[in-house]
Amino acid sequence: MSKILVTGGAGFIGSNFVRMLLLGSDHEIVNLDALTYAGNLENLADVQDNSRYTFVRGDIADAAGMQQVFAQHRPELVVHFAAESHVDRSVLDATAFVRTNVIGTQVLLDQSRAHGVQRFVHVSTDEVYGSLGAWGYFTEDTPIQPNSPYSSSKAGSDLMVRAAVHTHGMDCVITRCSNNYGPYQFPEKLIPLMIANALEDKQLPVYGDGKNVRDWIHVADHCEGIKVAMERGAAGEVYNFGGDAERENLFVVKEILRLVGKGEDLIRYVTDRPGHDRRYAMDSSKARATLGWTPRHTFESGLRATVDWYLQNKAWWERVRSGAYQAYYEQQYGGR
Ligand code: NAD
Ligand code: TYD
Repeated sequence: MSKILVTGGAGFIGSNFVRMLLLGSDHEIVNLDALTYAGNLENLADVQDNSRYTFVRGDIADAAGMQQVFAQHRPELVVHFAAESHVDRSVLDATAFVRTNVIGTQVLLDQSRAHGVQRFVHVSTDEVYGSLGAWGYFTEDTPIQPNSPYSSSKAGSDLMVRAAVHTHGMDCVITRCSNNYGPYQFPEKLIPLMIANALEDKQLPVYGDGKNVRDWIHVADHCEGIKVAMERGAAGEVYNFGGDAERENLFVVKEILRLVGKGEDLIRYVTDRPGHDRRYAMDSSKARATLGWTPRHTFESGLRATVDWYLQNKAWWERVRSGAYQAYYEQQYGGR
């Protein structure tokens, strides 16, 4: 049993990871989260009374606050999810991305070193590698060439983790994963946005020609990958995780409409995202060979289960879509 500080555990992937560890291991979890628009303690309502779970509200970029959290909780491991995570928001304003993703990561690295943390697992993204043409895959040796303010801030954080390994001899592992989908994803990202809009008979805004390709992975497969990287990864190494499920956006949107029984007349082509990466595809052979990891969900079964989850949890996404989300939606899609 270890004491694990999970940052961003109230967000989409972090909450799935916290639940997986509470129900499937004997680790003690301290969930550290600032509860931004994307953080929601409702995501963990079913496990919040677990005796191995503690929630702490805090901002990872606040060095004095983090000093207190590390001194009080003395974690043995850190698994770092907390981030500003949405490309479109980073196009509107990148400030919070630099603050949380770059400075926040450095604050956590400094506190981890000062308090003798045994391993720091940094959760990163395939987007740091940039964009692919029609062929090829990202490997761990692909040069870092991020294109958006979001991916550039994540690349900045990856490089600070690399520096902590090489300069300070810290034991860090970096995971880079492709696009996740599944329960509790905030409905600003493609799949939950399209499911929620379709269920409410709203238009489905497809950027550009709809032919951009993402490699989709179910969040449970990503969480399993982070867990095995935490347990068995080699210090200083990077591990790619992908779902072997490359799909064009338009295919995904049409599949969602079919699953919810709505017509394709809801699709609306809108102005493309500036700097829109064309294609992502992951080579996960290193994780398969060295960590024994393999994704369990196919895209078809995972998407069906996800649509069912959003159908059964309408109250959850209706609540998160009210308030501040409305203002963002108007700013992002109002003029397109
Ligand atoms: P999310 O936006 O759903 O959750 C982010 C969480 O971080 C929220 O709970 C938020 O409150 C918290 N947070 C934000 N700023 C904070 C701060 N300053 N201090 C403390 N907490 C803060 O994001 P997600 O989709 O769950 O992504 C989690 C991580 O996984 C991110 O690092 C992201 O870059 C990475 N990732 C995401 C995907 C994906 O498809 N969603 C793919 C690969 C990697
Ligand atoms: P997104 O879920 O924002 O993830 P990322 O940009 O990090 O890959 O978007 C996935 C793809 O869907 C991306 O190619 C942009 C596209 N997209 C749309 O076409 N319409 C939308 O409203 C959104 C949010 C995304």
